[in-house]
Amino acid sequence: MNKTIDDNYPEISVRLLKWYDHNRRNLPWRALPGEKSNPYYVLLSEIMLQQTIVATVIPYFLKFIKKWPTINHLAQANFSAISNEWSGLGYYRRAKNLHETAKIISVKYNGCIPDNTSELLTFPGIGNYTAAAITAIAFNSYENVVDGNIERIFSRLYRIENPLELSKDRIKKLAAKHVPNKRNGDYAQALMDLGSKVCISKTPRCKQCPLIFACQVAEKEEASEYPKRLPKKIKNTRYGLFFCLFDDQNSLLFTTNKDKGLLSNMDMIPSKGWYESENRLESSPLNISKKLSFLGLEWRVLPNEVIHTFTHFKLHCTIAYYKIKDKRGIEQLNLDFPFRFVKQIDFKHLALPTLMKKIIKSVNDSKI
Ligand code: ADE
Repeated sequence: MNKTIDDNYPEISVRLLKWYDHNRRNLPWRALPGEKSNPYYVLLSEIMLQQTIVATVIPYFLKFIKKWPTINHLAQANFSAISNEWSGLGYYRRAKNLHETAKIISVKYNGCIPDNTSELLTFPGIGNYTAAAITAIAFNSYENVVDGNIERIFSRLYRIENPLELSKDRIKKLAAKHVPNKRNGDYAQALMDLGSKVCISKTPRCKQCPLIFACQVAEKEEASEYPKRLPKKIKNTRYGLFFCLFDDQNSLLFTTNKDKGLLSNMDMIPSKGWYESENRLESSPLNISKKLSFLGLEWRVLPNEVIHTFTHFKLHCTIAYYKIKDKRGIEQLNLDFPFRFVKQIDFKHLALPTLMKKIIKSVNDSKI
């Protein structure tokens, strides 16, 4: 008779926790076995881990706890310092939300992170997943923590044929059946570790899996075909023109993006465009000269394009270059703040999005 996974419940959580005891990842926000979690570390890491992988988060997390060892320190920090340290991690709205959340917890909760999802959900930037992960990991609460990796595990265990995009509620209900009554934080983290070390997306390591005894796809070596997906939507493409203006000391002109939304409050190389695809011709080499009017200078268009992928669109960046030869040339530009020239050694103090770093690298690489 075919095995069914429910026959093996609650064996799933028991075997998974046993596996975790021998295979857990050592992560800087994690308590050692037998020790209590630091709720600030858990909250900070969970916000950083929204949309960002563990390997990228680790150095940022370490920098943050060194600079701001408690949530009260973070609450008292200047936002520009937080934004600088966040630079490169992406999704910058998270930095603002993190600071706002730290301020609320510091003032209204005396620096103690609430141990329940209903209060955590009132804070900016904390949604259902993050609230569940924080309470499970920091306070061992009974929570059904389900992220993308965990969805993959359950879609394989139960061999879910419907595309993941249409099965999320079902997967959540199936996952809920297996949440154990104790060691909740360990159980959530065990699923995360299984998803990142064993039940991985492209080449699942089924032979190492503690749940192979129950998995509906492993034996047939079909695991990599799950979860099923809806056909991919093609990302919108936009086009932007970036003006790299160097002064006589080789400092580069920056501004600060005061718009709300994407890259809000980040330091930016001035740009134009970001047009939708129908306007592709506007940034073609033939038409670009029309747009090169910025500051009345004779811009030179560099041959290499930089392409950057945001969540909802791809941006093709054309780079325009100009070098001012003397002080008088700079004075004539009459630039007002937030426009300012920044020395290369001071770039580390800017809140620079990854896109700007790519553009700077491309300019430096083009050996003008
Ligand atoms: N992804 C989201 N939260 C995580 C955590 N606490 N550990 C590892 N990966 C995660």
